Amino acid sequence: MRVLVVGGTEFISLHLVRALQRDGHRVAVLNRGRRSERLPSGVERLVADRKDPAALRAALGGQRFDGLVDVTYAPTTGEDVAAMLDAPAAVGHVIFVSTARVYDHARPIPYDEDTPRSLYWGEYAKHKIAGEDVLLARHRDRGLPVTIVRPTHVYGPLNTRNNETFFFDRLARGRPVLVPDAGGWLRQFGHVEDLADAMAAMLGNPAASGRAYNVMGEETITQVGFVELIAEVMKRPLTVVSAPTPAGGKAAPFGQNLAYDCHAVHTTTRVRAELGLRPRYTLGAGLAHTLAWYTREGLDKRDVDFGAEDALLRSLGAR
Ligand SMILES: NC(=O)c1ccc[n+]([C@@H]2O[C@H](COP(=O)([O-])OP(=O)(O)OC[C@H]3O[C@@H](n4cnc5c(N)ncnc54)[C@H](OP(=O)(O)O)[C@@H]3O)[C@@H](O)[C@H]2O)c1
Repeated sequence: MRVLVVGGTEFISLHLVRALQRDGHRVAVLNRGRRSERLPSGVERLVADRKDPAALRAALGGQRFDGLVDVTYAPTTGEDVAAMLDAPAAVGHVIFVSTARVYDHARPIPYDEDTPRSLYWGEYAKHKIAGEDVLLARHRDRGLPVTIVRPTHVYGPLNTRNNETFFFDRLARGRPVLVPDAGGWLRQFGHVEDLADAMAAMLGNPAASGRAYNVMGEETITQVGFVELIAEVMKRPLTVVSAPTPAGGKAAPFGQNLAYDCHAVHTTTRVRAELGLRPRYTLGAGLAHTLAWYTREGLDKRDVDFGAEDALLRSLGAR
């Protein structure tokens, strides 16, 4: 298949490019051309800002793609998704990377794909729901094959979110780890290669058409349990310092986006039952794989400013 990946040069979309090439597809990417040196050879490069419909038409006009995977959030509205679909002469199967944050997180866990969507997660949820609805309408009204993928926290090599690396940084230096309150909110993670492999496997599969899928690892773990697992993977001693969140105030730093106060737990039954897809990585194995990348890249030696964190630790009597 000739497949267009929107994005292609950072994290999820770059892993997807690699998975598609491995599976023998011809891959084109569309992005603003800022990190083209990261692309593997043989990838066709199309340059446009996805927020600019005229630029999209100039870059994609007359082109035909058997598959299109819309990964990049820029922030991408429903109109932006429609403009992406309208710019080429023809598109086959379209996969849209949405998010599990479309679900109403005020409801009891776990969330399956039929959980009502809501604006619990604000603008981000609003835009993702609008993007999903554009695809679902194209499927319903024009018969376009579409699939919606809803990941939760994605981790792995090249992660642009400072989540697992946040804890690697502290444990590698023998530092204590601050945990907001009791650290008891449940989280679920998915390895980026498992997500990329799942999307590559869905492309062109009629069973996936018109469907939305949660795609993530099976295990759920509390915030503090995640830190404990990382310490075990790193074989480092761990000192946890609980930091009470002041009423109406900000939680202690805990990775880039893991410090929010609700559970995030989802079922993966549908993608397993309908498509036979399951992850290769357990959370422990995936973290070990990510740690190997972090060490290889020398990120354990990078400069990190712990000034604010040290002040908080001192105020808690832990320094
Ligand atoms: N990471 C998670 O935990 C998580 C969880 C759930 C859902 N998601 C979803 O996963 C997707 C993000 O994946 P990612 O963070 O791994 O990023 P990514 O898509 O791999 O990287 C961003 C790519 O988009 C391109 N890009 C950025 N702005 C652009 C624009 N205005 N026009 C054209 N191209 C643009 C960048 O290249 P240039 O800078 O050169 O343009 C780069 O290639 C999002 O849809 C996000 O909502 C992520």
